[in-house]
Amino acid sequence: MGARIAVIPGDGVGKEVVPEGLKVLAAVDRTLEFRELDWGSDRYGKTGEMMPADALATLAGFDAIYLGAIGWPTVPDHVSLWGCLLPIRKAFEQYVNLRPVRLPPGIRSPLAGRGPRDIDMLFIRENTEGEYSGTGGRVHVGHPHEIAVETPVFTRLAIGRAARYAFERAQERSHRLVSVTKSNASRYTYVLWDEVVAETGRDYPGVTVERMHVDAMAARMVLRPDSIDVVVGSNLFADILTDLGGALQGSLGLCASANLNPDKRWPSMFEPVHGSAPDIAGKGRANPIGAVWSAALMLRHLGDEASAARVERAIDAVCEDGSVLTGDLGGAASTSEVGDAIVATLS
Ligand code: IPM
Ligand code: MN
Repeated sequence: MGARIAVIPGDGVGKEVVPEGLKVLAAVDRTLEFRELDWGSDRYGKTGEMMPADALATLAGFDAIYLGAIGWPTVPDHVSLWGCLLPIRKAFEQYVNLRPVRLPPGIRSPLAGRGPRDIDMLFIRENTEGEYSGTGGRVHVGHPHEIAVETPVFTRLAIGRAARYAFERAQERSHRLVSVTKSNASRYTYVLWDEVVAETGRDYPGVTVERMHVDAMAARMVLRPDSIDVVVGSNLFADILTDLGGALQGSLGLCASANLNPDKRWPSMFEPVHGSAPDIAGKGRANPIGAVWSAALMLRHLGDEASAARVERAIDAVCEDGSVLTGDLGGAASTSEVGDAIVATLS
């Protein structure tokens, strides 16, 4: 295939799980080319910048971006995230954040009596605006009357393109879509959300769309996960619900995500959901499966469905076998032992 991949291990356990993903990628496709970039909080400590001034221009020349994690206690989170991850999602119009929530065989969900057949959802998170729009400010800083405002921004364009992507995925799967909203309390933004989702749905008469308030959706994910298949949600709502999803699928360490520019005009970015995990960083204990699964999503986006499916099958087989798993899943294996086991299991 010969795709060129920019690799940003980033911070904390990102530096430990990314090498495992690269190991698996190299095993399934020898033609991939990788270039590692030392962007992140260490770089910030040395230069005052998370990434160089021409970072976006550099990334634009790659076919995809493979990222570990951004965020470290030495840098305020809003500085590190707005200095690296969030500008990449926005600049490259990665308007869909695709997050499979699937319980692999052999992994125990904290939900009693639930197995892989009950927990198999696909979240489509709008990834460029909403509560992440960056619109706002602080005035009277330090005074007792200091105020902060941060305004969610919702546009017909961004809602529509995320919804369209979700309807297409629903059409390929169960023909059922849940749209997460809060248009009872919100009078403007989520009302527009509902309208645009409904309008988009007219082009997909075979898909049944259900509107669900986010609070009720949180309860439904716990009580009736089997009733949920494809979900579309705003940036913040789907951020929160996919962490809940991670818990339901046995560990946040398993969760994968794809920040997609579906039009393929810009590179898409693939990253595990778990973050830099300062509490276990540097100990070789992080679960690399979320990163490896994200690498599978990258292969799929690059058009190599066969290799993507091969990697996902190997992940399932390692989970089902259960003898080589990290501590978050009740095992005693190290990060690299799990990576090696996935490579050895590729069939
Ligand atoms: C995620 C993360 C990020 C987000 C943070 C680190 C800004 O939680 O990718 O889910 O909220 O998008
Ligand atoms: Mn999150």
